[in-house]
Amino acid sequence: MIIQELNLEIRKLLSKHLDLTLREADIESRFILEHALKVKHAYLIKNFDLPIEANKIKKIMNFVSARISRKPLAYIFKEWKFYDMDLHVTPNVLIPRQDTELLVDLIIHQYDEQEKINILDLGTGSGAIGIALGNKFKNSTILLSDISLNAINIAKKNILRHKLKNISVIQSDWFTKIPKKQFEVIVSNPPYIDKSDPHLKDEGLLHEPREALISAQKGYADIIEIIKTSPNFLKPNGTLYIEHGYNQYKKIHQLFLDNNFTKITHNEDLNGIIRATSGKIKI
Ligand SMILES: C[S@@+](CC[C@H](N)C(=O)[O-])C[C@H]1O[C@@H](n2cnc3c(N)ncnc32)[C@H](O)[C@@H]1O
Repeated sequence: MIIQELNLEIRKLLSKHLDLTLREADIESRFILEHALKVKHAYLIKNFDLPIEANKIKKIMNFVSARISRKPLAYIFKEWKFYDMDLHVTPNVLIPRQDTELLVDLIIHQYDEQEKINILDLGTGSGAIGIALGNKFKNSTILLSDISLNAINIAKKNILRHKLKNISVIQSDWFTKIPKKQFEVIVSNPPYIDKSDPHLKDEGLLHEPREALISAQKGYADIIEIIKTSPNFLKPNGTLYIEHGYNQYKKIHQLFLDNNFTKITHNEDLNGIIRATSGKIKI
């Protein structure tokens, strides 16, 4: 069997069992082939007429069966890309989202790569945000924290995978174990979905840890805690960057104002949705 035939076969299966359009199924099929064969997209297209060995077909079809059982590809592959870095992920952590790369971009545009700053990534999950920042700001010190020990262990694995010496990890319920007044930057993508939000039934979210997604007080409890407490942990002029839901920025703007922040900015994700807010602490 050649790659193209296998691609068509997988496409048919995924489209039938997952109710995908042929185009959507084709994207997933190529993704599975690229991952299993450890090749880039361009190579796959160029070599569509190459034969595939039987043992590789078996491995690929195992991925396809897992996908048909509606497991997300990230959990099937046990890794996912964030900011062009491969990160280990398990069902104990949120799958890092491309939209979250916005937070990393905002910080990269604000600070010089050579700068020596202290950055705290609160609710780090797989470590995605902090690790991408640690990889960029090699002279800076990054602290990752999460309440989940499972997440902490995955973040540690990812730090080792990328051989980053400037990152450490701590288990902490938000700020409880964090040193005060240390950080130029605090960044967080906290849980912010209300428990009755119908999106929680979306297939993509069903497999992810509930505690990474849901927050009390209509989705605001963790955001409120972070905005209220950050001023005690930021250095003068330090900045808090926070990701939030599409409809939350107005309330978050007020929370930033009420807690001594200035220069509050809202930023859009790739879909043009206001997804991140930042503010500088008044001196
Ligand atoms: C939306 S996920 C974000 C994960 C990762 N930062 C990312 O963007 O992919 C939220 C994270 O906050 C963590 N979390 C939830 N409650 C927490 C708390 N009280 N203290 C610290 N971390 C918490 C969860 O374990 C989860 O890893």
